[in-house]
Amino acid sequence: MKEDIAKSSSLGSRPVANNRYWRLLEAAPDGIVEVDDSGRIVLLNSQVEKMFGYRREELLGKSVEMLMPERFRGRHPAHREQYRAHSVIRPMGSGLDLRAVRADGTEFAVDINISPFEGETGGSVVCAIRDVTDRRLAEEEIRNLNLSLEQRTRDLAVINSELEVRNRQVEKADRLKSNFLTTMSHELRTPLNAIVGFADLLARQTAGPLTQKQERFVGNVKESSRHLLSLVDDILDISKIEAGCLDLKFESFSLSVAVDEVLSTLRPLAAAKEIDLTTDLSVDLTLHADRLRVRQVLYNLLSNAIKFTPAKGSVRLVSRANGSVIHISVIDTGIGIPPEENEKIFEVFHRYLTPTQHVCEGTGLGLSITRLLVEQHGGKIWVESEPGKGSQFHLTMPGSRDPVR
Ligand SMILES: Nc1ncnc2c1ncn2[C@@H]1O[C@H](COP(=O)(O)OP(=O)(O)OP(=O)(O)O)[C@@H](O)[C@H]1O
Ligand SMILES: [Mg+2]
Repeated sequence: MKEDIAKSSSLGSRPVANNRYWRLLEAAPDGIVEVDDSGRIVLLNSQVEKMFGYRREELLGKSVEMLMPERFRGRHPAHREQYRAHSVIRPMGSGLDLRAVRADGTEFAVDINISPFEGETGGSVVCAIRDVTDRRLAEEEIRNLNLSLEQRTRDLAVINSELEVRNRQVEKADRLKSNFLTTMSHELRTPLNAIVGFADLLARQTAGPLTQKQERFVGNVKESSRHLLSLVDDILDISKIEAGCLDLKFESFSLSVAVDEVLSTLRPLAAAKEIDLTTDLSVDLTLHADRLRVRQVLYNLLSNAIKFTPAKGSVRLVSRANGSVIHISVIDTGIGIPPEENEKIFEVFHRYLTPTQHVCEGTGLGLSITRLLVEQHGGKIWVESEPGKGSQFHLTMPGSRDPVR
């Protein structure tokens, strides 16, 4: 084989096509070049012609340095000498970004594997050259992506630490707000109680008779200061719950007794609107909860139901036990709530009133307190409603197996 190849290559002509070994060389995917000990090209396959844009005759017998960019040519003979001293099969310039140059002067990226070879004229070297332009581009792209990823990770770390600082500021502001509200509410309650008390005294005419006009005015003072007092109470409740300072006094008590207590205050309201107010507490259930707070929850839900149900409608309170959980529902035939409001109505100060609907009294605190209280008991509250048909407020509360005290 050696003779065949050597003969054909030294002649600079294309080797005979039926030579099996030559065809093997031609079939190789890489460009193959044999370089003799003086650095001259003595053999090449047609991949090299395609890759570099030279004809075979233009390369045979020429210095191999012509295939590399000019800036590397000066140092190359020394590299060749070094290789001759330690000839092994290895990648050339491992880890280096090897470049080759085409006949038209354009450069491209290559990988070159070199191995010693017993040539015709002595020790030569066989080089397998592969055009790796696409791979290098992909590697470059991956490098750039990695760099931008690293940059983003750094940016994210900065944003995260900024967020942490802001979170701490928000927490602090929240604490300050709760403290402020608690203190303010306390400060407001004292003079308000005095106003209510003195207005009561005046109304009872213990300090002397009142004219009809004065009676009306005192009535207004009483009404407004009671309203203000209940608003302050609500705000105080919310700030206490949000600050985690509301202590619940858990006890076991009968649900029907608690319901009766609430209904006795609400019956006149329902009667004034001819609303049918009923309960369906089939079995006497025992709650394990804060009795005062449960009454507050029931009061809020039932008073809403009466408030938002037109005259001659009906309001029903239903309860049942599900294991150790007690399920309570307040069902009305009132104005209802559109689906997009189902969550919002539980937010502080959120009220939903259609323009055509007459303005009902209220501040939008009742349901938010109710939800906080129910959740504080470990329960849940939600609403099902259809505008124009009525609403059903459902909640769960912990039950008890203890006998009622
Ligand atoms: N049973 C109900 N039927 C229809 N809408 C209701 C019902 N209950 C509550 N809502 C709607 O949810 C809103 C919020 O209720 P919430 O009890 O928090 O406030 P409010 O009753 O308006 O005022 P407050 O309870 O502070 O006196 C109400 O303004 C109303 O739009
Ligand atoms: Mg309410």
